[in-house]
Amino acid sequence: MDNNFKFIDLFCGIGGFHQALSDLGGQCVFASDIDENCRNTYEENYGLKPAGDITQVDEKNIPTHDVLCGGFPCQSFSKAGNRMGISDPRGTLFFDIVRIAKHHKPKYLLLENVRNLSTHDNGRTWKTIHENITTLGYNVSENPIVFSPHNIGIPQYRQRVFILCKRKDLGHIPIFNFEVDKNNNNCSIEHILQDDAEIENIDTYKIGQEKFDIINLWGEFIRNLNGKLPGFPVWTESLKELDLEEDLDTLPKWKSNFIIKNNQLYLDNKKFIDSWLKKARSFENFRGSKAKFEWQAGQAENPNIWETIMHFRPSGLRVKRPTYFPALVAITHTSIIGERQRYLTPREGARLQSFPDSLILNKKDSIAYKQLGNSVNVEVVKLFAKFLLFNKEFNHKDYNLKSIKKEAKSI
Ligand SMILES: C[S@@+](CC[C@H](N)C(=O)[O-])C[C@H]1O[C@@H](n2cnc3c(N)ncnc32)[C@H](O)[C@@H]1O
Repeated sequence: MDNNFKFIDLFCGIGGFHQALSDLGGQCVFASDIDENCRNTYEENYGLKPAGDITQVDEKNIPTHDVLCGGFPCQSFSKAGNRMGISDPRGTLFFDIVRIAKHHKPKYLLLENVRNLSTHDNGRTWKTIHENITTLGYNVSENPIVFSPHNIGIPQYRQRVFILCKRKDLGHIPIFNFEVDKNNNNCSIEHILQDDAEIENIDTYKIGQEKFDIINLWGEFIRNLNGKLPGFPVWTESLKELDLEEDLDTLPKWKSNFIIKNNQLYLDNKKFIDSWLKKARSFENFRGSKAKFEWQAGQAENPNIWETIMHFRPSGLRVKRPTYFPALVAITHTSIIGERQRYLTPREGARLQSFPDSLILNKKDSIAYKQLGNSVNVEVVKLFAKFLLFNKEFNHKDYNLKSIKKEAKSI
């Protein structure tokens, strides 16, 4: 296919597909999203007003197109949802894609969904999708392709399923050969960080005193331990001599294991931990999940908690190497960037999704985070679009992150 193609953007959100496909030369002729805020952001950025609820759109009113894109909603497929899948009415939005594709017969369908789709309902959900698209007259990748931006050096771990479909008369879909390096550590959050000096209202992103104190406490804890750093959750309440009254046999195995490990950690560091606990307990908010700690940043000679990324979770303060962020989610203020002592900004969230800095974000941060958390990574879409539409094989050399950031900044 040449670069002069037309595409439609279903469930368009703020336009991850739009950005990617128009960067490749495509022209968007129709978009739709039920969410008004998304429609406004989309129009502001791309000058095209998306239609609303797709179930109410007559396929005959959609212009002809070469490519149908759709990151269809994931609630019904997601692990967090009720797992009803295709039988859930929300799952049936997939059939709106089928309805539109049946009428227009575009050359390609490029679909995206949550990772769980590949295994959902013992594979029956995928089978249904595969069968429907095949019956429509498309070749479809045999298995859903699972891919994450961190696989190509973008510092976000976001495993998503990509479904590539090519109209049968256009030939087969080549096998997507991509050797994912499971231990890929080529990522660095540095590639997407804004300079603090350029952040408006920087104080709103700073962690407060309470969190600062808790992080400092745990930083002191990890710095002063003898021997190996704990690769298991540290529970302050178990940092003590083993309680002989507590019958470990009645507990689940994983729990008694952690208690035994915490006890050993305590015995190996008794003097330090006793004085540290005294200090920690003098902080009023040092309790509940804040008194729990998950060091996931590996072994280090001089561990410095302020050189990591952190998350306050119900299971405790989780600390990771500054390689990549977990998947961007809809919630405000999740990832803490240690070296900056602040949260990720919406602009940094947009960079994690590989949007150019020219993307106009919603003025309300809570809406911007939500929209970015629902979006798709632009570079990953480009990778699959090039592969599907132009038969361009994947080449690692195309993914030099420094140039991606420069490109983002220069637009
Ligand atoms: C996973 S998000 C896709 C985001 C998009 N790919 C992006 O880059 O921002 C799914 C989107 O489907 C939209 N949606 C849900 N039900 C819809 C419906 N009935 N009609 C149109 N859009 C719908 C949601 O508002 C949401 O923005």
